Amino acid sequence: MNYDHLTEAVATIASASGRDRHAAAVVLGSGLGDYASSLDETIEIPYAEIPHFPEPRVVGHGGSLFSAPVGDEAVLLFAGRVHTYEGWGLDDVVFGVRTAALAGASSVLLTNAAGGLGEGLAPGDLVAISDHLNYTARNPLVGVNDDRLGPRFPDMSEVYSRRLRGLLERAFQIASVTYREGVYAWFLGPSYETPAEIEMVKRAGGDLVGMSTVPEAIALNHMGVDVAGISLVTNYAAGITDAPLSHEEVTETAAEARERFTAVLDALLPLLVAG
Ligand code: HPA
Repeated sequence: MNYDHLTEAVATIASASGRDRHAAAVVLGSGLGDYASSLDETIEIPYAEIPHFPEPRVVGHGGSLFSAPVGDEAVLLFAGRVHTYEGWGLDDVVFGVRTAALAGASSVLLTNAAGGLGEGLAPGDLVAISDHLNYTARNPLVGVNDDRLGPRFPDMSEVYSRRLRGLLERAFQIASVTYREGVYAWFLGPSYETPAEIEMVKRAGGDLVGMSTVPEAIALNHMGVDVAGISLVTNYAAGITDAPLSHEEVTETAAEARERFTAVLDALLPLLVAG
């Protein structure tokens, strides 16, 4: 990870937004990116205008960073993220959240679309991530450690902060959305999992499965940032039902859940910047 590249990106974000500090950040997952443009008085900074920022390789979605005022503070929202399955290295995958941390974010919410396999989970459910399983054998901290970012061997016993999970529970209550927690299993993708893989995850205690979030969570934990995660269950994981999985199902369910997701985030943002 090139520290100078990070500070160059942080400087551009400060000058483009007119704000030296952002107290918190939110990464918006598949189908959830529209939330940023629903906020008032945002300043949009296309990823293409930020030095060293990777741009998502999905046609028509270059991705943008939004700076939004929340109370007396400001929040960064990432509409669009890059994934390892697109061919990006993990330094690129975690570049955005590392800049957010250096821009002052002491709390970061990571959101994603995920397959559900946990007891009682169904498409449309929003689930707070309590912990993760890493099935990729990859880690963004591999390589020479930069001590300015964090320690060589970071503790991982509470990656998804209990304090922030308390705030999530409150935000879910305010939004009248049932609060649930689950363990998220990271697979590389881009192919979906096989039923045998999902059976393995089930036996290991996983509830959710997806292709993102974990590298960002590891990098933020390395930097001492409090992490929260929300998965939107967009489909039953492979083999839970007979239905084949499709990206269309994922984006359709995300669109249907937009109202509840928006209500939870509207309730959460003031709590995130206050805490
Ligand atoms: N598996 C992996 N990633 C996903 C899924 C899934 O079932 N649904 C949405 N993203």
